[in-house]
Amino acid sequence: MTEDEIEEIKKKAIFEIANALNRKDLEEIKIEYLGRKKRLNEIIRRIKDLPIDKRPLIGQLANKTKREIEEQLKRREKELPPSRYKLPSIDVTMPPAHLPYGRIHPITQMSNQIIDVFIRLGFEIVEGPEVEYSSYNFDALNILPDHPARDMHDTFYIEDSEGEVLLRTHTSPVQIRIMKEHKPPLRIVVPGKVYRRDADISHSPMFHQVEGLLVDNEVSFADLKGVLNAFLHEIFKGVEVRFRPSFFPFTEPSVEVDIRCTVCGGTGCRVCKGTGWLEILGAGMVDPEVFKNVGYDPEDYLGFAFGLGVERLCILKHGIDDIRLFFENDLRFLDQF
Ligand code: DAH
Repeated sequence: MTEDEIEEIKKKAIFEIANALNRKDLEEIKIEYLGRKKRLNEIIRRIKDLPIDKRPLIGQLANKTKREIEEQLKRREKELPPSRYKLPSIDVTMPPAHLPYGRIHPITQMSNQIIDVFIRLGFEIVEGPEVEYSSYNFDALNILPDHPARDMHDTFYIEDSEGEVLLRTHTSPVQIRIMKEHKPPLRIVVPGKVYRRDADISHSPMFHQVEGLLVDNEVSFADLKGVLNAFLHEIFKGVEVRFRPSFFPFTEPSVEVDIRCTVCGGTGCRVCKGTGWLEILGAGMVDPEVFKNVGYDPEDYLGFAFGLGVERLCILKHGIDDIRLFFENDLRFLDQF
């Protein structure tokens, strides 16, 4: 009975010693097991109550165990750092040394910012395919077969049989897809990639556009101006905006929208080519021909549309001078956004 007790004490002591983290722990263990009125000494004190023939055995065992525990304590003490070295305390408020954060690509950031404004204006986001029918990319948008935009130099065709499938050259075909499937009222914005056979410091064969379309019974040119003004003032705070007559096959009347040059403030510079203005987007009232192509009666509906290049907006907002920087994945560039 007492032998088992001693064995049990020994096991516990060895376990606790092995798990002690510092000298203070060891000191406490020492007192607990070897202290005058504690465990082993208590057993030794009770030896006199045992039958006479058992006394020597228990006495020897208790003393042997005491020595073993002492040895273990000494051994563990050597393993632990000297007590004058405190364990390092952890300051959880310290910033980490260096965490390499990822970032959202500047084009995605710009695109999100643009979309955000239109969501607040009540528009819905939709997307369309990058591989598109020529009929949606061109014909349905009233871009007739001899239009220069159809030139092989601009378009990547996928099937050369009759040039039916291509990489969309703009996001406008999504207008057609949505109008074919839904009846007005419509308020959509379409972000996405577009492709043109073009590559230099201001053109990339793949770039991003955001398209907008609003169709309802009563829509005026004033609505178009109101929405685009609100949008541009969100992106370029307090900037001066101008609407200039232009032409697109799918809108009539059409405009190009300019803002005061963000670089020179209007006095004329290299970026605005001396004009003091920067062209920002194309827009217009949806051409009745387009409505007919999607099965809407132009007598019933009016609408406006717009399209803008995300890279261009980003370039003008941040004063970037080479579009290729967006696609080279150089961290020295990307880290700045
Ligand atoms: N799709 C035209 C382009 O890629 C941009 C554009 C202009 C879109 C006028 C429109 C618009 O919806 O009304 O150059």
